[in-house]
Amino acid sequence: MALHEKDTIREDLEDDVYASTDLSVTLPKYKMPEHEHDPRHAFQVVHDELMLDGNARQNLATFCQTWVEPEVHTLMNECIDKNMIDKDEYPQSAELEGRCVHMLADLWNSPDAANTMGCSTTGSSEAAMLGGMALKWKWREKMKAAGKPTDKPNLICGPVQVCWHKFARYWDVELREIPMEGERLIMTPQEVVKRCDENTIGVVPTLGVTFTCQYEPVKAVNDALDQLQQDKGLDIPIHVDGASGGFLAPFVEPELEWDFRLPRVKSINTSGHKFGLAPLGVGWVIWRDKADLPDDLIFWVNYLGGNMPTFALNFSRPGGQIVAQYYNFLRLGKEGYRKIHQACYSTAHYLCDEIEKLGPFDIIYNGRGGIPAMSWSLKKGVEPGFNLFDLSDRIRSRGWQIAAYAMPPKREDLVIMRILVRHGVSRDLADLLVEDLKRCIAYFKKNPVVNRSNEEESGGFKGT
Ligand SMILES: Cc1ncc(COP(=O)(O)O)c(C=O)c1O
Repeated sequence: MALHEKDTIREDLEDDVYASTDLSVTLPKYKMPEHEHDPRHAFQVVHDELMLDGNARQNLATFCQTWVEPEVHTLMNECIDKNMIDKDEYPQSAELEGRCVHMLADLWNSPDAANTMGCSTTGSSEAAMLGGMALKWKWREKMKAAGKPTDKPNLICGPVQVCWHKFARYWDVELREIPMEGERLIMTPQEVVKRCDENTIGVVPTLGVTFTCQYEPVKAVNDALDQLQQDKGLDIPIHVDGASGGFLAPFVEPELEWDFRLPRVKSINTSGHKFGLAPLGVGWVIWRDKADLPDDLIFWVNYLGGNMPTFALNFSRPGGQIVAQYYNFLRLGKEGYRKIHQACYSTAHYLCDEIEKLGPFDIIYNGRGGIPAMSWSLKKGVEPGFNLFDLSDRIRSRGWQIAAYAMPPKREDLVIMRILVRHGVSRDLADLLVEDLKRCIAYFKKNPVVNRSNEEESGGFKGT
């Protein structure tokens, strides 16, 4: 190689990223570039673009994890190349998944935790689909055996997360969703029983309703369904959507009966990436007993050298989240989960008191009887110079993302703001947030919002 060529190469290597030829032009956005780019340069462009996303730690609208220990980062890195479906190739990851299933079955008081069935999923949505399918299959078997028609299945629930709307539409099931009414924002046993008939495949109470964060009364619904069976002979199972509560109640309210202690509870879903404290991309569904998962939903896949049972909507899936979930179980144990969640509840209560003191707000949910969270609406009759959408917008100028949204059907008139207090929302951060809310209120006092268009007044549900 000639000497002058060495110099050219050196120049390239020492180029400042932003002064490089690659970054002296705008990179294509919607067509694949014709040529390669230096990895340093491409990385910097993508990295910089991500700055425009909100800061996840200040996203108080999400239930999902935004802080993990350094060890979790390392494990995620170690697993980046492991495909969860290749159980024959990665038998130890498969073993860890199985252990998580049995630990959860035990945590939720399955009568036969060591032998029951369950699996990991991408989140609660996939887990809900699998739980719902098992209910539908079981109901169909029963109806066929009785020589009855199977074309009009229905499912009863309170105000549910959109995954249940999807389930109903994708699997052709009528969703009998109990609407909110006046002060009643969740299901009651009376409202459930009213809607039951022989085509009801199951009832889905939510342990931590997405909109209000309250727990629905699983035991009271279980008891009302017992009574219904006595009165009318209908035997209706329960699937609990424990997306959030499944990882809260066992640690913080162990005496609350919502799980497999109740005989009608046949399956439960939860999100590992919410209060399970795992990184994004893992959920779980567990059946009370092997017999509650119909055999013909299980596929035996002979692939890459093994014959393995699977029940999932996806095939390939990353293994890191599941490994991280197992790490959390070992690292924290029941004691660690309890401490973390209790700290969150106590910060939620603190925030509730402080936000109430600000003056213009009515507290809707005070962090008791549900998820560590709190929500508020604007007091009726006050004219603070803003509505909650304005406040949500203004507080974002300090990076805080706090959703303002209208309640689902029949209570669309009620607009609330909601804060999820997760692992990593410290007391100190809570104080900083309250100071910023005070600043916003003072700003609107001086600069009230006037001439609002109708469009700006409305906003559907935002948050995960
Ligand atoms: C009650 C409930 N069920 C299901 C889901 C969907 O969970 P995932 O995001 O894990 O799919 C959510 C998400 O917020 C939820 O709150």
